Amino acid sequence: MKDKEKLISEASNAALRAYAPYSKFRVGAAVLADDGTIYTGVNVENRSYGLTICAERNAIAHAVAMGMKSIKAVAIYSPDSADPLPPCGACRQVITEFSAPDAAVICCGSKGKAVEIPVSELYPMDSLHDLKKN
Ligand code: THU
Repeated sequence: MKDKEKLISEASNAALRAYAPYSKFRVGAAVLADDGTIYTGVNVENRSYGLTICAERNAIAHAVAMGMKSIKAVAIYSPDSADPLPPCGACRQVITEFSAPDAAVICCGSKGKAVEIPVSELYPMDSLHDLKKN
């Protein structure tokens, strides 16, 4: 995918701005919009714990607020995970809200190769896409 390295580096830079004083687990995300614009987000924790919002959902909220219509790809990066970090279940559903089934989800950690996977494999039988076809 073109722009992949750029997207990963934006997610990695964003992770340094994470607000994660409770878990100490910093996450950055970068969304590539259909028009080529990149929007970033970070996890923002809260002392109530339950109000914490993940980096992916923050990046998507940022993108939508700025006028994004559709996600081409999203990269997720944590400097605090050696292994590639996949999005949580809630974030998978929110990604599908704004993406075609073939949108790329690029999972990255501090070591090793990024894992790239279409959102339809991370979130199959999606009510917004797959189930509409039947
Ligand atoms: N987190 C994310 O931001 N994205 C993920 O994909 C996994 C988890 C955040 C939530 C919380 O602030 C911290 O990582 C530990 O779970």
